[in-house]
Amino acid sequence: MKGILLAGGSGTRLYPMTLAVSKQLLPVYDKPMIYYPLTTLMLAGIRDIMIIATPADMPQFQRLLGDGSQFGVTFSYRVQPNPDGIAQAFLIAGDWLAGHPCALALGDNLIFADHLSVLLRAAARRPRGATVFAYQVRDPERYGVVTFDEDGRALGVEEKPENPTSNWAVTGLYFYDDRVYDFAQQVQPSPRGELEITDLNRFYLEEGSLHVDRLGRGCAWLDAGLPESLLQASQFVHTIQARQGMLVGSPAEVAFRLGHITADQLRRHAEKMKKTELGRLLLELSSAGHGGHAL
Ligand code: TTP
Repeated sequence: MKGILLAGGSGTRLYPMTLAVSKQLLPVYDKPMIYYPLTTLMLAGIRDIMIIATPADMPQFQRLLGDGSQFGVTFSYRVQPNPDGIAQAFLIAGDWLAGHPCALALGDNLIFADHLSVLLRAAARRPRGATVFAYQVRDPERYGVVTFDEDGRALGVEEKPENPTSNWAVTGLYFYDDRVYDFAQQVQPSPRGELEITDLNRFYLEEGSLHVDRLGRGCAWLDAGLPESLLQASQFVHTIQARQGMLVGSPAEVAFRLGHITADQLRRHAEKMKKTELGRLLLELSSAGHGGHAL
């Protein structure tokens, strides 16, 4: 399975912070925001990843992430000239996808859960259909909203409804089978002029192949699109790292634990950051030498 990290958009709700800097490069506590959804894709076992960003921001993403070898993955880059909608990612990536199944992670969405990789790998392995994750929120009108029947099957999906019929929001992490490009080509612009991911999901829903995994109390889903949620995300990461001494959203750590990079590679990567707590934790990990730990 391939993966797309979507890091375009205009970030107008974070102005003036995003007037000169891409939202997905802003810090979430001690790392650039895009590290978190990147780590999520890697935890799903994905190693072939396309990063989509605006033409103006692309050089900074390339400078930050390079070819992916530091994390034992391969990065490709494509621009999205205008923010014409999330589903456009599959059209931009079409020839690169070459009929492969694909996961899409929004560059400003952070998901944390115990045993997240088990959940993600199950979604990545599903041979047919799509998998999305739903999370209960207090402000569902900001998101795609899913309603369920009495047996917990998804009945409908609606984008930013004025009067939401449930408070289950669809998170910014989607897994699709090898038909995603064909379905994406059929999506028509919405009244706000965007190719909506919710319309793509509806194709799968209508043929009965949209799996909606509900994330419970033990999970945190944060979208860092507003000043307050950006702060909450930083506080969340800080709390876990300070209290437990465990890293959250470190692609280098995940790469090492999955055996994608050696202890030597991890050490070289961490050396550059040795004045930081992140760097020190990575150095410790490289000398403890226990890759392959449960994630
Ligand atoms: P949004 O938060 O809906 O939009 P935005 O990032 O442009 O922010 P704002 O509303 O403050 O102007 O986008 C969700 C994610 O999807 C975010 O990571 C940006 C990304 N995105 C694209 O890359 N291209 C697009 O065309 C759209 C609509 C979003």
